[in-house]
Amino acid sequence: MEVLNPEVLISEEEIALRILDLGNAITKDFNGEDIVVICVLKGAFMFCSDLIKKIHLPVNLEFVSVSSYGDGMTSSGNVSMDLDLSVSIKDKNVLIVEDIVDTGLTIKTLKEYLNLREPKSLKLASLLFKPSRNKHPVDIDYLGFEIEDKFVIGYGLDYAGRYRELPYIGVLNAGN
Ligand code: IMP
Ligand code: MG
Repeated sequence: MEVLNPEVLISEEEIALRILDLGNAITKDFNGEDIVVICVLKGAFMFCSDLIKKIHLPVNLEFVSVSSYGDGMTSSGNVSMDLDLSVSIKDKNVLIVEDIVDTGLTIKTLKEYLNLREPKSLKLASLLFKPSRNKHPVDIDYLGFEIEDKFVIGYGLDYAGRYRELPYIGVLNAGN
């Protein structure tokens, strides 16, 4: 039985428009060069899938899985790499695609890890950013939306493994 009803924070239409802008900016910035897009599972799968359709460059798609959250709404403070790259990124243009930068720990750790592999360039696209919670400053080269300190779900993001399939970004309100 569902006790939490999602309320729409960012609609499907708003997301699509923003992704079009981000795709255009990425296409322009890389100026015809090849890029390796690294989708950070599981949360970024939907964003990444829509974003790469708007990037008009030769794209090589990779997946990594990094966990910093348990089953709840607070970070465990630990980061572990559960799925690693399947190709070398040495001397390649790399674009990390993430769902949300919250404390920044996950992305800071991932960036350090990827930098050890000596890419030609390393950029970050994140759909969401919660500035009020940020502890580890990271440059977000392509940002979808800045949001308030609310726990969001949908469009790839989960709460205890649920709600990833929603086509919009929502907020959970207990009990209505
Ligand atoms: P960070 O390491 O604190 O920046 O946390 C980043 C990760 O925590 C994200 O990649 C998400 O998987 C998860 N996360 C942080 N905030 C939220 C949220 O509001 N909803 C769902 N997942 C979140
Ligand atoms: Mg994530």
